[in-house]
Amino acid sequence: MPEQPTYILGIESSCDDTAAAVLADAQLLSNCIATQAIHEAYGGVVPELASRAHQANIVPVVDQALSQANIDKKQLHAIAYTRGPGLLGSLLVGASFAKSLALALNIPLIEVNHLHGHLMAHFIADTHPKLPTFPCLGVTISGGHTQIVRMKSSFEIEILGETQDDAIGEAFDKCGKVMGLGYPAGPEIDKRAQLGNPTAFQLPNPKMPGYHLSYSGLKTAFLNLIHKHQQKDPDFVEKHLNDLCASLQYALIQPLMKQLDRVLANYPGEALLVGGGVAANSAVRKALSKREEEQNWEVYLPPLKLTTDNAAMIGIVGYLKYKEQQFSDLNVSAQARLPF
Ligand code: KG4
Ligand code: ZN
Repeated sequence: MPEQPTYILGIESSCDDTAAAVLADAQLLSNCIATQAIHEAYGGVVPELASRAHQANIVPVVDQALSQANIDKKQLHAIAYTRGPGLLGSLLVGASFAKSLALALNIPLIEVNHLHGHLMAHFIADTHPKLPTFPCLGVTISGGHTQIVRMKSSFEIEILGETQDDAIGEAFDKCGKVMGLGYPAGPEIDKRAQLGNPTAFQLPNPKMPGYHLSYSGLKTAFLNLIHKHQQKDPDFVEKHLNDLCASLQYALIQPLMKQLDRVLANYPGEALLVGGGVAANSAVRKALSKREEEQNWEVYLPPLKLTTDNAAMIGIVGYLKYKEQQFSDLNVSAQARLPF
């Protein structure tokens, strides 16, 4: 008789997406997300509104994930949830729900670090023709994080460098806001940048020690550039929107690619796993694919549905931890800042 798969329910609620997914071993059976549109009106995530929306969404999203997977909750072997990092009020909703369900079903609870999830999404079955091997490098580029790591195994991770201030996605979104773009602005900047000239406006190219990055100076320089020109011409942004998007995107990606060039040169032959919402950016994907072709890099780009926050990535870490019996206590608390 074939062996029963291990069914894992993954729950993600660290920011403004309420997500649930079911995996049978490493195979994804369902991946459901309720994105909170309410924040668009405010130009950014409002933490209090986010946690309220998570409360409203979590039961229907979990139900949907179970029914799409054709699984009854009694068949689940464990529940994996995002313990952190993220917005505390948002994390608490997912954590409380995961704990209550694990307790009610009398199955193990597994805590997952959100950043670990972004990188481990590459281990979901059929995501790539071949699984990455260790040791490898990882880069997470998202609205909350910009981090370069080295992974000796699934659970041994060393941070090599990270942003010293803003995250790259945050810089996309905040600069988009001053141009009057909706939230999140990253996807729209990406689209408009394809129609603009990346050298139309000069922006600083910050040099950071080691493999670190910094985006707050670049963001301020961009805001100053807009304000300076708007004083002379109130329609400046409208007239130059595509060029502004192209120049901004170029300035945001250049320093990242420079650090990745250095880290890949120093760890030759190691694969690069890419994760986070900004991994959906077409210029980032193009720059990485170019290096794959021309310099023989082995780059793992996530499929678009696994770039932004999702619960499939939490479920796969849950499955890998389940195999190692790495379970959590019910009294482990959610943490807004959670190191690897
Ligand atoms: O991973 P994610 O959903 O949330 C965090 O963990 O932070 O990433 C969201 C970020 C937002 O800043 C959004 O603007 C950015 O990903 N993003 C993009 C693109 N798609 C999403 N940035 C640039 N180009 C894109 N195509
Ligand atoms: Zn994320």
